[in-house]
Amino acid sequence: MHLPDLEVAKKRGQSANIYIDLKEDYTAKFKDKKYFLRTYGCQMNVHDSEALRNYLETLGFQNTENLEEANVIVLNTCAIRENAKDKVIGFLGKCKYLKKNRDDVKIVLAGCMSEQPDVVKEIMTNHQYVDIIIGTHNIQDLPKLLLKEFSKQVVEVYSNSDEVIENMHYKRDSKISAWVNIMYGCDKFCTYCIVPYTRGRERSRKLESIVNEVKELKKQGYKEVTLLGQNVNAYGKDINETFSHLLECVAKTNIERIRFVTSHPWNFTDEMIEVIAKYKNIMPYIHLPIQSGSNKILKKMNRRYTKEEYLELFRKMKAKIPGVAITTDIIVGFPGETEADFLETLEVVKKCEYDGAYTFIFSKREGTPAAKMPDDTPLSVKEERLQRLNELVNFYSNKNNQKLLNREVEVLILGDSEKDSKKVFGYTDTMKLVNVDGPKSIIGKIVKVKITEAKSFSLDGEYVEDIVNV
Ligand code: 5AD
Ligand code: SF4
Repeated sequence: MHLPDLEVAKKRGQSANIYIDLKEDYTAKFKDKKYFLRTYGCQMNVHDSEALRNYLETLGFQNTENLEEANVIVLNTCAIRENAKDKVIGFLGKCKYLKKNRDDVKIVLAGCMSEQPDVVKEIMTNHQYVDIIIGTHNIQDLPKLLLKEFSKQVVEVYSNSDEVIENMHYKRDSKISAWVNIMYGCDKFCTYCIVPYTRGRERSRKLESIVNEVKELKKQGYKEVTLLGQNVNAYGKDINETFSHLLECVAKTNIERIRFVTSHPWNFTDEMIEVIAKYKNIMPYIHLPIQSGSNKILKKMNRRYTKEEYLELFRKMKAKIPGVAITTDIIVGFPGETEADFLETLEVVKKCEYDGAYTFIFSKREGTPAAKMPDDTPLSVKEERLQRLNELVNFYSNKNNQKLLNREVEVLILGDSEKDSKKVFGYTDTMKLVNVDGPKSIIGKIVKVKITEAKSFSLDGEYVEDIVNV
């Protein structure tokens, strides 16, 4: 067994301190050992966990869902809001307790929290029982670190990496729908956001590598790929490429379904809209975070667009992409947000009638510009705004979902329904979750489903027939 060598494109002439040099078979060493992996946060982390899982299993570890029997516990963490960090710190308490009786357990802290210097300091001071702290730019160092014996806590974090890894290997969670990284990092520096600090500069993978990965996934039987980036529109800026060109090349692989997240409203080009409208296998679904409906707040957030520009883009998408569903992200209680600013946000939600929205109360992230902005709105007011916003958002998701009642829609069936084990579940082309009454044999297929019930967050339906491509 060899771990694959990685192709690491070194940008801006910096040297890479990344290597995989395992020429022996280590599966014997870890054969009876188990790993427990918990993922917090966004799709990027979910996909990184698939890489971590690959490393762990290549070394011989077996997966366990039971924390008590794990030899290695890996926490792939999120730093986007304070409550994400609180959850991890809470879970670490359990791990500490476990380690009291078992000195053969290794605890690994990976992900975005490891890229926050204040958090690393806290872990080094108060959580010495954490064995390894590894950053987002060097998860490929995990095997090396697990193979070595250390007498004290190891911190292996490279900040602001300029590297682009091309042939990362993954143990994917699904055999039907796959995540595909197209770029890393974010340069937008929205004033509230920690991501540019935890994930580094925007850097794109080579177009050819991405297309080859999609072709390979198609060959393996995958029906869907989701192209991942913090801001996919920025794809290619550093390598003289564009996202619209990439999207078109991926569409031409003829994989059945293509999705992408996340799009920034600032540089969403007309070419991108045209390509999405042109190819049937690019799904008519766009996640387009607005964050606020007040121009004053958008400026303070450094979002680079006005409410009017956003609404114009929204209108264009609806006009040019047949049946497109659009969802958004909204933050309430940003420093300086008044009731009048908030009402402007509600107005935009009414205009856009979103298919769905992820809504958050502003969370102060140390080191970001917004953390220093005066914020005198009480938490109770912010919570009340969130509730009013959610009521409106749910009203429109429900209204949009009701339009599908009694209609037949195409659903890619992904597995057993969590709600009812006799049912299966999947997503419509517009990314609506459907619990389907139908045979298990349709898992992995795109089928016609009749919608029998529509709620705010999901649909119920009955299997009608397979879709036969002619
Ligand atoms: N506080 C609250 N929400 C945040 N987000 C990002 N940073 C913060 C923060 N500091 C939200 C944004 C973003 C989504 C992924 O998380 O809405 O689009
Ligand atoms: Fe954060 Fe803004 Fe980048 Fe999105 S675009 S990851 S909100 S800095």
